[in-house]
Amino acid sequence: MSPKILNREARNRGVVRVWCIVVPRERGEEVRRRLVALGVLQKHLRIVQEGDQVFLPTTERLDIGFPTEQREFDEGFVAVRSYKDVVDVPEPLRRFLPSAFDVIGDIAVVKMPEELQPYREQIGLAILRWNPNIRVAGQDRGVKGERRVRSIEVIAGERRTTTVHTEHGLRYRVDLAQAYFSPRLASERKRIADLVLEGEVVADPFAGVGPFAILIAKRSRPKLVHASDVNPAAVELLRANIGANRVDRIVAHEGDARRILGQIAPVDRIILDLPHTAFDYLPDAFAAIGARGVVHVYRILERADEPAAADRIRATAAEAGFHVAALRAHPVRAYSPTQHHVAFDVTVVRASRRAAPGTSPSASRTSPRTATPARGRRSARTARRPAARGHQSRRSARRR
Ligand SMILES: C[S@@+](CC[C@H](N)C(=O)[O-])C[C@H]1O[C@@H](n2cnc3c(N)ncnc32)[C@H](O)[C@@H]1O
Repeated sequence: MSPKILNREARNRGVVRVWCIVVPRERGEEVRRRLVALGVLQKHLRIVQEGDQVFLPTTERLDIGFPTEQREFDEGFVAVRSYKDVVDVPEPLRRFLPSAFDVIGDIAVVKMPEELQPYREQIGLAILRWNPNIRVAGQDRGVKGERRVRSIEVIAGERRTTTVHTEHGLRYRVDLAQAYFSPRLASERKRIADLVLEGEVVADPFAGVGPFAILIAKRSRPKLVHASDVNPAAVELLRANIGANRVDRIVAHEGDARRILGQIAPVDRIILDLPHTAFDYLPDAFAAIGARGVVHVYRILERADEPAAADRIRATAAEAGFHVAALRAHPVRAYSPTQHHVAFDVTVVRASRRAAPGTSPSASRTSPRTATPARGRRSARTARRPAARGHQSRRSARRR
């Protein structure tokens, strides 16, 4: 967490009554330095000047040859590096304090162990004090059910779960208690958007409030993006976000991924962002791909299970009549001490259209490392014709 300057006064916080030393104005600076050197000046309190007297707040009653008294001081500016600097929990529990949390718009979402539950409000208040841009502190009580909706308990600040989150310059209205959203996939969304070729038809059947689909429609140059979700609340937010970001080349649908994929086929690229069960939708995704295409399928697994997952992808593609031209496992983020969140980028070509080894269109336009077409603003149409770029013989080009 970056250091923040906390303006407590601006947030109506803190008038405290403490001991102080009363010195003539002309000696104020000299005595202030002396108190700093002694380590007894309350530096976070604002020094008071009244008439020709200066009141210097101290940590205790001091006798250094000047009058002392108790009076009220405003809390002033203080550098706070972490909410932990201002949190009020018993010392033995400090080791349980979370060292990181998500910030979505102006809502902080924090996970806490059982030991800290009696102090959750103090923790929430400390987060609000640490960063004045945060207006709500919520406790994350887990993502549940098919709709992956987060159970949120507001522990401090305004009582709401709605906010506007900015990602890659686009603004998303979210309701954390109604529809899934996580800021942690921001760079993954950008990675996928950068892979989309001009003219592609893209499907995002687990779109949530739209952060993949809207970024692609806005920043890549697809022909069309189909964004859909089974959760009506997510689709309502998705539609609002399409409007708010003035996106065209995108159409929102509400419904089950299987049904939507069946309706919109054929497509060139599909994003299956439902990590716990996305593999179950692979047959439907392959069935929705045209002659060739790319599926990005997400999964949470142990690293050791990656080869088995890749085998399952190949087998499912083969059953659907596809040859896997390229397959790459891209680590997205750590999920738990042993599991990680992985994107499998799968480029498939209809088996009947496969070219001879070494002349495969996909072989000529993909690398085993990227598993997707070479980057750039080529159109999907151009990319489907590698012969035109001189990579294929006329014969193999004709076979297609
Ligand atoms: C992990 S979230 C991903 C949301 C989005 N891609 C994002 O990056 O924020 C998965 C989404 O899939 C939706 N979902 C779950 N099962 C579904 C299904 N069978 N058909 C369509 N959507 C589904 C959930 O409602 C949820 O919004």
